[in-house]
Amino acid sequence: MRHLTTIETLQPESIMYLIKQAQAYKQGKQPAAYPECLVSNLFFENSTRTHTSFEVAEVRMGMKVIQFDPAKSSVNKGETLYDTCLALDAIGINILVIRSQIDKYYEALINQPSLKCAIINGGDGSGQHPSQCLLDLMTIEETFHRFAGLNIVIAGDISHSRVARSNAVILNKLGALVCFSGPQQWIDSSFASLGQWVEFDEAIASADVVMLLRVQHERHDGTAAFVKEDYHQRYGLTLERCRKMKPGAIIMHPAPVNRDVEIAGELVEHEQSRIVTQMRNGVYMRMAILQWIIEGE
Ligand code: CP
Repeated sequence: MRHLTTIETLQPESIMYLIKQAQAYKQGKQPAAYPECLVSNLFFENSTRTHTSFEVAEVRMGMKVIQFDPAKSSVNKGETLYDTCLALDAIGINILVIRSQIDKYYEALINQPSLKCAIINGGDGSGQHPSQCLLDLMTIEETFHRFAGLNIVIAGDISHSRVARSNAVILNKLGALVCFSGPQQWIDSSFASLGQWVEFDEAIASADVVMLLRVQHERHDGTAAFVKEDYHQRYGLTLERCRKMKPGAIIMHPAPVNRDVEIAGELVEHEQSRIVTQMRNGVYMRMAILQWIIEGE
C-alpha cells in the first residue's frame, strides 16, 4: 500500500487516473470490495465533509471502519501521534486517514519501519489537503474537460488555506492560469511563483473558475479588526460581482462556507455554483483514492 500525503507527490498521469476512476464510480461503476481492510479516521481537527465522505467511501468499498474518537483516546494522556499510529497499526488497522492541526505531521509517520499501514492526509494545518484538491480537479474537469488555458482565480484567506496551496501547485502543473485575490496581507511570498495577485473585480471578468476560500478565523491571532460586511463588499463574491462573471464560469468553495462573508448566501446554490457538486464528488474521489492506495493504477 502507498500513502497520499501531498499533491506534489502525484504525477499528472496519476491525477488523471484518479479523476477518471472517480467519474466512473459516479456513473455507476461497481467498486471492488475490500472486506479484509480495516480503516480508521483520525480527525484531530473538526470536519463535516472530509470525515463523513471518507467514511461513506470506505463503507461503499466494503471496508470495515474502526471508529476513533480523539477525545476518548489516550491522546489525552500525552500519547504522541506516532504512538497512536503505532498502536493502531499493531492492532491491525491497514489505512489511517488523518487530519491534524500540525503542518506536515505525516513526515514523522511515513518511512517509519514499524508502521506498515497507509497514511492518507485529510488535511494538515495550513499545509495540504490532497483529497480536496483532487475532488476540486474532478469538478473542474467535469465542466470544462481540460485544465490547460483555464483562468482560475483563488480568492480569500490564501496564506492560511491548505486548499489554496494544493490547488495552485497542481493547477499550474496542469497548465491552468492561476491568479490570487483578497486581502494582500493574507497572501505570503510562498505563493509568488504560483500566480499574481489581481484586484477581484478584474479577475472575475476573465475567470473560468472563481475559487473562494473561507476566512479561517481560528488560524488568525485575533488582533486585526474584522467587519463581515466590509469584507464581503471588498473581497467577497457579491450578487453584483456574480453578474459580471462570464456566462460559462463556475463558482467553487471547499466549504464550510461563511455565508455573506466570502460569498453571498444566495449564491451557494446558484446555477453557476459547483459547491454542492464538490461535496458529492468528494465521496467518489475518496473511493478512487482508497482503491489507488490498495491497488495502484
Ligand atoms: N472542505 C473540507 O475540508 O471540509 P471539512 O472541514 O468539513 O472536512
